[in-house]
Amino acid sequence: IKSRRIMPYKVILSISINHHVYCALVDINDYFPAYRHILKGFNMHSPTILVTGGAGYIGSHTCIELLNAGFYVLVIDNLQNSSEESLKRVADITGKSVTFIKGDVRDKELMKEIFSENKIAATIHFAGLKAVGESCAMPLEYYDNNINSTLVLCQAMEKAGSKNLVFSSSATVYGDPETLPLTENMPLSATNPYGRSKLIIEEMLRDLPESDKLKKTDNPWSVALLRYFNPVGAHESGSIGEDPSDIPNNLMPFITQTAVGRRTELSIFGSDYDTVDGTGVRDYIHVVDLARGHLKAVQKLLSKESIEGVQAYNLGTGNGISVLEMVKAFAEVNNVKVPYKLVERRPGDVAACYADATRAKMELDWEAGMSLDDMVRDSWNWQ
Ligand code: NAD
Ligand code: UFG
Repeated sequence: IKSRRIMPYKVILSISINHHVYCALVDINDYFPAYRHILKGFNMHSPTILVTGGAGYIGSHTCIELLNAGFYVLVIDNLQNSSEESLKRVADITGKSVTFIKGDVRDKELMKEIFSENKIAATIHFAGLKAVGESCAMPLEYYDNNINSTLVLCQAMEKAGSKNLVFSSSATVYGDPETLPLTENMPLSATNPYGRSKLIIEEMLRDLPESDKLKKTDNPWSVALLRYFNPVGAHESGSIGEDPSDIPNNLMPFITQTAVGRRTELSIFGSDYDTVDGTGVRDYIHVVDLARGHLKAVQKLLSKESIEGVQAYNLGTGNGISVLEMVKAFAEVNNVKVPYKLVERRPGDVAACYADATRAKMELDWEAGMSLDDMVRDSWNWQ
């Protein structure tokens, strides 16, 4: 019995006694190894999606969308920035459970095992480290976690012939934008190790279809690079969301913690930018919209018109919102006070950054539908 593995199958056991039929819905796990092979047959019409880092902020919201769309979801997460509780809440929200494996994506043996024991239709790779400031202080950890995990994952995928991948990239790969809005074919650059790790991974993934051409394979890679702008908000239930344990780096958790009284005031970094009111402008996107973008990308990968090779997609609303506009919307919609002071610019910040998300609309049939009011309401509801 290998206790760390739980298989994603349930079965109805029924027994008839004196013309009464008794049924039970039973989880099949490693205690019933023989059933696994039989039950794989039933799995044909509900493809399994592997979600690395699925217990985290964006991953847990994406699990909800995948489960609601009828997919089986298998999560691997080492829980270094999350807890299994988020997956229990995903199950409460959807009425469907996720199969969870606690482990590290850099563990080659484990990844090999996952791909040999499950027929994975597509993988969404969220797992990684994501704090810009921290990445400057500990670049090797960032390169190790972000790049190595992708390398080990892709090796396991290639070996298993499971070559549909959605990768969590970031608008940070555009560096300091020369023109706005940002389209996917604008120049790429990195200003910190976190951004550089994303850029290196994007380039690494672009080599894979090239190798397919040389091998003349009939099972080529299909990869969607999703470049997120600024994810905010939480599920409307208020039961899952982002919960930074340290002082928040990002604007929205700082606003919510100030409004609830955990911080005395928000520092607004810079009021002399060439923007609508002098404060920084970003493309904030509701995390549920972002999660739906992942569902659309998976559906595209599994469709007849799948992605040929590697394609990048901006996931943003296309609207630039300033820090002051965000603070005002938050205070008005939630009827709370957000004390703030204007301070110096934060080093490394750009004045403005927002997306042209036309490609995602045209090719993935996705566009952000939630408003700024939804974002600030759901962020507060979660706090
Ligand atoms: P998160 O930290 O909430 O989620 C990441 C999850 O991955 C966590 O649950 C963590 O425990 C897990 N993890 C980390 N390293 C792992 C490893 N080696 N093996 C297994 N599990 C591991 O972060 P998030 O905000 O949900 O971000 C998800 C992805 O999206 C990241 O790759 C991040 O770089 C990218 N992204 C996030 C943002 C953002 O603002 N949140 C913006 C752009 C891109
Ligand atoms: N800001 C403040 N005060 C704060 C925090 C932020 O004024 O306490 C301002 C920033 O100066 C910026 C805006 O709010 O103008 C947004 O800042 P965030 O830190 O929330 O977000 P960034 O745009 O700097 O970066 C985020 C993620 C990156 C990701 C990028 C693009 O942190 O990982 O979005 O996706 F790469």
